[in-house]
Amino acid sequence: MPFLKVDNITHQFGGLRAVHDYELSVEPGQIRGLIGPNGAGKTTIFNLITGIYNPTHGHIYLDGERISGLPPHRIASMGIGRTFQNLLLWRHMNVLEHVKMARFSRIGYGLLGACFGTPRRHREEREIEEKAYDLLEMLDIRHLAGQAVPNLPYGAQRRVEMARALATEPKLLLLDEPTAGMNPDELVQIMEIIRRVHRELNLAIFLIEHRMRFVMELCDRIQTLDFGEVIAEGTPEEIQNNPRVIEAYLGATET
Ligand SMILES: Nc1ncnc2c1ncn2[C@@H]1O[C@H](COP(=O)(O)OP(=O)(O)OP(=O)(O)O)[C@@H](O)[C@H]1O
Ligand SMILES: [Mg+2]
Repeated sequence: MPFLKVDNITHQFGGLRAVHDYELSVEPGQIRGLIGPNGAGKTTIFNLITGIYNPTHGHIYLDGERISGLPPHRIASMGIGRTFQNLLLWRHMNVLEHVKMARFSRIGYGLLGACFGTPRRHREEREIEEKAYDLLEMLDIRHLAGQAVPNLPYGAQRRVEMARALATEPKLLLLDEPTAGMNPDELVQIMEIIRRVHRELNLAIFLIEHRMRFVMELCDRIQTLDFGEVIAEGTPEEIQNNPRVIEAYLGATET
C-alpha cells in the first residue's frame, strides 16, 4: 500500500457534493500537486486528509493504517502536518514561540512535570528550543526569531506557518497555496525553501497552488480537480498539454 492512500472518497456539504470519488496515492518523498479552479474542492480534500471533515464515503490510510474518522490531533501526531490557505498565526506570539508552541503540543510532560518543572522538563524545553531554531535556520528566518509575527512581510509569515507545520516532524506536509499573496522575489525564495525542506527532511509534500510555473517546476505528478472530480492526472508535461485541463483551468490562470 502507498504511504498515503485516499480510497475513493466523497464529501457532501448538505446538498453540495464538494468532492466526488476522489483517489490519491502518495509515496514517501514524492512532491504531488493539486490544481483546479476556485471552489473545485481542493481545500476540502486537505480538510478530509487532516481529519477536520469525515468523508461521507470512502476511507483514508496512512502507512497502512486507517486515519479517516480519527480526530485532527491524532492524525497530526501520526505524521501529517499542514499549512492553511488563510494564515493562522497568533498576534501575541513571536516567531520562535510559534514554532516552540507547535512542538510542545506534541510532547506530554505529565501533570507533575508541568507544575513543578522537573529536570526532564527543563532538558526537553532546551531541546525544543534548539529544534525550533534549526527549523528557523532551514527556512531562513532565524534572524526574525524575536519578532512579532504581524509585523513581518507576508512571505516571512508564510515561512513561519511552514515552520510551525514542520515542528511536529511530519512525514507528509500539506501546503495550501503556499505562494498566495507573495511578490516575485518571495516566490523564488519560497520555491528554494520548499526544495531545501524536501531534501533535508526527506518528507513527502502534497501542495495546492494556482501559480503554474511553481507547480510545474516542483511537482513529480499533478492532479487537476474540477467540480470535485479529478479530470486529469500526470506529469507536469502531461498536465500542461491536456486539452481538458487547458479548457477547465489553464486558459484562465496566471502561468
Ligand atoms: N464548510 C463548508 N460548508 C459548505 N460548503 C463548503 C464548505 N467548505 C467549502 N464549501 C464549498 O465546497 C466547494 C469546494 O470548496 P473548497 O474550499 O474546497 O474549494 P477550493 O478548491 O479550495 O477553492 P479555492 O481555490 O477558492 O481555495 C465550494 O463550492 C465551497 O463553497
Ligand atoms: Mg482552497
